[in-house]
Amino acid sequence: MTRDTSADLTYLSGFGNEFASEALTGALPVGQNSPQKAPYGLYAELLSGTAFTMPRSELRRTWLYRIRPSALHPRFERLERQPLAGPLAPGNPNRLRWNPQPIPDAPTDFIEGWRPMVANAEASSPAGVSIYLYTANRCMDRVFFDADGELLLVPQQGRLRIATELGVLQVEPQQIAVIPRGMKFRVELLDGQARGYIAENHGAPLRLPDLGPIGSNGLANPRDFLTPVAHYEDRQAPVQLVQKFLGEHWACELQHSPLDVVAWHGSNVPYLYDLRRFNTLGTVSFDHPDPSIFTVLTSPSSVQGLANLDFVIFPPRWMVAENTFRPPWFHRNLMNEFMGLIDGAYDAKAEGFLPGGASLHGVMSAHGPDAETCDKAIAAQLAPHKIEQTMAFMFETSQVLRPSQQALDSAQLQTDYDRCWASLPSTFNANRR
Ligand SMILES: [Fe+2]
Repeated sequence: MTRDTSADLTYLSGFGNEFASEALTGALPVGQNSPQKAPYGLYAELLSGTAFTMPRSELRRTWLYRIRPSALHPRFERLERQPLAGPLAPGNPNRLRWNPQPIPDAPTDFIEGWRPMVANAEASSPAGVSIYLYTANRCMDRVFFDADGELLLVPQQGRLRIATELGVLQVEPQQIAVIPRGMKFRVELLDGQARGYIAENHGAPLRLPDLGPIGSNGLANPRDFLTPVAHYEDRQAPVQLVQKFLGEHWACELQHSPLDVVAWHGSNVPYLYDLRRFNTLGTVSFDHPDPSIFTVLTSPSSVQGLANLDFVIFPPRWMVAENTFRPPWFHRNLMNEFMGLIDGAYDAKAEGFLPGGASLHGVMSAHGPDAETCDKAIAAQLAPHKIEQTMAFMFETSQVLRPSQQALDSAQLQTDYDRCWASLPSTFNANRR
């Protein structure tokens, strides 16, 4: 199923602001949040994304003015068909890499097609992240919300039309969408099939990183984040409302569309960002900075500088460093890295890391460029060079990521990943500096 979407795509721009939008003139109450009688006979409802008493800079909450309050629903029942889940596998210190997940043959909507890959916390934890791949081949005819976390969607193939309570996002590969914890939405496929990555963030909501000495410009600029304007469905027909709660799907049947918010204001909003707008910074002398220079969004932990989740990209960029080994250097890190590839090739790997694929390099695992890339980098005549047709990303976390049993048993798991480093020779010669 596809649909024309030109009519309902209007956005507000900015990040973390108090936004306001009304689909009917005067639907937003003036001067107060919860008047005795809201305009147009609407109900006022609060959706909080952080505890009430967080510092003001971290607070996320939105007031919704809707046709029916969310409380109008029957009992949720645990669905017979549950998502792939189960306990995480025991830890595995190996470097792991997967080929792309094929699009399924069986009818699969967006929420049926999540494959759990790695996680570092149970869904009930107030911190941590669970990472999934999604594939889908049909539009949702139901509505979903995730009580377990905020969702960062990274499409790799196929455009998505995401109808949320606050309005419509249309997202394509090389763009990302973020949906607050608990926000109801429905995903329609604009190209018949879709594949991508999901970070389910159990911790603090994602925000822009501080810029420190970089100054007030650069990396992802706030004005490039887009939030939908109010768009409501006044529809009376049975629809299934599914929630993900502690890793399981529960559902009830409503007699009306739950996407019935006519007006809203607040900071707890879904948003869209085009990765091609990232203002990529790097060295103009020698060496290169740590990959934190490529951070788009971060979910902080309670320890300053130690991220619960960083979303980092490796976009097209110029390489100009002199006398420098230009690919990512060999490294062993405290942080845990789950990587994906949206398009093209990644500059640290000559082959084997494919668009739609994924890799896991956990705490203290030794990795870096493969042997072929390393050879070329040492022998290269260094001149300004542009890396083009690439968009890789990393979900980086401070807590150790464990693969799911499904990911370890998957036919897409590469059993020979270690071999990409196996031919690195010793070129040491004690007699020649
Ligand atoms: Fe790495």
